[in-house]
Amino acid sequence: MKTILVIFGTRPEAIKMAPVVLALQRQSHFRPVVAVTAQHREMLDQVLELFGIVPAYDLDIMRPRQSLFEVTVRALRGLEKVLQEARPDLVLVHGDTTTTFVGALSAFYLQIPVGHVEAGLRTGNKYAPFPEEMNRHLTGVLADLHFAPTARAAAALKREGVDPEKIFITGNTVIDALQSVVRADYRFGDQHMYRFLEGGKRLILVTTHRRENWGEPLRQVYRALRRVVERLEDVAVVFPVHRNPVVREAAEEIFAGLDRVHLLEPLPYADFANLMARCHLVLTDSGGLQEEAPSLGKPVLVLREVTERPEALEAGTVRLVGTGEERVYREVIHLLTNAAAYHQMASAVNPYGDGRASQRISAALLYYFGQGPRPEAFSPKVLASTSFCPPAQNSETGKKE
Ligand code: UD1
Ligand code: UDP
Repeated sequence: MKTILVIFGTRPEAIKMAPVVLALQRQSHFRPVVAVTAQHREMLDQVLELFGIVPAYDLDIMRPRQSLFEVTVRALRGLEKVLQEARPDLVLVHGDTTTTFVGALSAFYLQIPVGHVEAGLRTGNKYAPFPEEMNRHLTGVLADLHFAPTARAAAALKREGVDPEKIFITGNTVIDALQSVVRADYRFGDQHMYRFLEGGKRLILVTTHRRENWGEPLRQVYRALRRVVERLEDVAVVFPVHRNPVVREAAEEIFAGLDRVHLLEPLPYADFANLMARCHLVLTDSGGLQEEAPSLGKPVLVLREVTERPEALEAGTVRLVGTGEERVYREVIHLLTNAAAYHQMASAVNPYGDGRASQRISAALLYYFGQGPRPEAFSPKVLASTSFCPPAQNSETGKKE
């Protein structure tokens, strides 16, 4: 039996690694052991609880407003001891956070093979997203196995000289997670959610947190949204605010006194995903939402200049709008007042996964250890939309669309 040490630390890593941990638990050849750095605390614990994952190691490194240096040093120190004690046959890390990079680096220092889940995404811009582009790149350099979610990500790795034998195209595990929680008859745990879900307004779901957007860019986005809500009476904003105080302070200040802007605590994943399935439009700088929302048939306006996830952009369901106040305002108003533009973006596409990515990763690990055949690559298909949104209404003409 092979011991697989699965290392993660933030909310999105947990959401995307949970299906992998569950798939490995179902496989008798593997003993998955979970180590969390807890780079996030409350936002990580929400996910662990939902998926019933109990970490064997919890480094509890989160400190308020901690710097990249502090995250790196605390995680590296903690993981040295974990790896020495757990002595895994392989370490799995996910994505592009500082925990990801430090997890791969720690394994390398002890000459333990590393599998990188969600490998090969690139913007080609060292500082965007920051520091994630470099975290992912550096992790790729250290990795022995690369689980690329799409053919494009695999191609990027090959261009960088990675041996194709070490690359597996799996789909993104976020779609596995999403499919396990989104339901047409889902009942929200918190009754307050029905205030805006049943309030008859078109909901704009907002999330922001990117480091490169801290300060003036975030303030411009919030000012643009404020103007949207003031102009269109049938629109409400639902904004589960990231726990980072930098994000909170700006949001609370700019949205103060607006009764159609609902600032919430970070939502448990099942509530969040089902809210997304029922909203009208998504405005975000998140990576994961760019993958989830298209499969739910929700248009996404991305608050960035570049993205490492161009597949949905090409499919037309995602658009990059940057963070300038005028541009964001115009793009949101355009989608909310032009039915044709909205419907053009609202078709469901699944370039990122079919719900079987974690199965493929588990099969690829069996293959790596000489216990099974090489799994077939994921190839995207257009699947039916899972939209629970009421029919769109043009608030300026009052006409049903
Ligand atoms: C981190 C990742 C980013 C990922 C994001 C997902 C790095 C450098 N950044 O960014 O790639 O997209 O998570 O959300 O790895 N905080 C809490 N409670 C929590 C979580 C955060 O209070 O549960 C606060 C703390 O004050 C913490 C701060 O948020 O110091 C920032 O957390 P950090 O992990 O450094 O950065 P994120 O912006 O969350
Ligand atoms: N998410 C959540 N609750 C929230 C907001 C987001 O569970 O209140 C989920 C979301 O569905 C996605 C992930 O968190 O799967 C995205 O995390 P985040 O935006 O923090 O990080 P990123 O994807 O940008 O790395």
